[in-house]
Amino acid sequence: MSGPEDVAAAELALKGMAHSEQHYFNSYNHHGIHEEMLKDEVRTKSYMNAIVQNKHLFKDKVVLDVGCGTAILSMFAAKAGAKHVIGVDMSTIIFKAREIVEKNGLSDKITLIQGKMEEIELPFPKVDIIISEWMGYFLLYESMLDTVLYARDRYLNKDGLIFPDKATIFMCGIEDGDYKDEKIGFWDNVYGFDYTPLKHTALSEPLVDTVEVKAAVTDPTSILTLDLYKCTVEDLAFNIPFKLTARRDDFVHALVAWFDIDFTACHVPIRFSTGPHTKYTHWKQTVFYFRDVLTLQQGEEVQCNLEVRPNDKNRRDLDIKIQYQLDTPDSVRNAKGECEYKMC
Ligand SMILES: C[S@@+](CC[C@H](N)C(=O)[O-])C[C@H]1O[C@@H](n2cnc3c(N)ncnc32)[C@H](O)[C@@H]1O
Repeated sequence: MSGPEDVAAAELALKGMAHSEQHYFNSYNHHGIHEEMLKDEVRTKSYMNAIVQNKHLFKDKVVLDVGCGTAILSMFAAKAGAKHVIGVDMSTIIFKAREIVEKNGLSDKITLIQGKMEEIELPFPKVDIIISEWMGYFLLYESMLDTVLYARDRYLNKDGLIFPDKATIFMCGIEDGDYKDEKIGFWDNVYGFDYTPLKHTALSEPLVDTVEVKAAVTDPTSILTLDLYKCTVEDLAFNIPFKLTARRDDFVHALVAWFDIDFTACHVPIRFSTGPHTKYTHWKQTVFYFRDVLTLQQGEEVQCNLEVRPNDKNRRDLDIKIQYQLDTPDSVRNAKGECEYKMC
């Protein structure tokens, strides 16, 4: 069990980190953010089913829970028959997790280590399974996947399993005139004043919000699939061309992005989606407004390009660039543009 001196030592270690890292880990100290994640049933039940329904994979295995938070995934793994589970978290929530594990009679099965995954030593040289919930908004915001890949390369046995092991980013074009006006057009005239300097800021920040499925004007397209057994940190900066095909005659004000998550090792593969077409998750969707409005006719294609890379100064932030080009027989509707965004 941990005492006040452990909490004080952890708080001191946090204070010694770069400001952006402190900010990131401190956000997980509070129970509120864990409440939101735990109450996200799409998320938490998918992990629960993937683990508890696959006892044949977990029985007698050594499991590493990367970023264990309140230890919910560690406890699922213990319930699924793991020989031992090691949970690692930098945030001070881990001290509450220790109490929770104790209260649930699982202290002999679960060891919780406070510290940064990249800096601590595990009590086992290798593990059989890695479980982790690392996904941020737009999948990659917060860059926690780097940490999972580090743990994979350092600790996962050859033939070890990763839960989940596949993540796919999707995008489609949406009609969102009213909301774009509310969020972006608002700055054109604020009580009679020109506030457009803030319009540029608003346009450059992707909006995390829910999008109605009926807003989709184009078919969705998958942009990037990450195979967690193979991908590297370098793959998390990418530049990918893609095209979107209009389903109907309509206007496109923005692109919306979401991701799907797969647990392919399960006896019956488990997948959940964070898209507009399915149940709400706390990741919602991520909207990238264009400065211009595209006027599309059914069947027309917009050529696009998505460039994503961690920000040079703070690798947990993302620099994103979207290019689009619409070529039609009608020169008035032709459009070409490039927008830069920053998720921070
Ligand atoms: C999205 S939360 C998931 C918490 C928990 N696994 C769950 O599913 O409810 C991610 C957790 O990972 C921790 N974390 C992120 N990067 C880490 C690192 N490099 N070392 C240790 N913990 C980390 C955060 O402090 C946070 O508690």
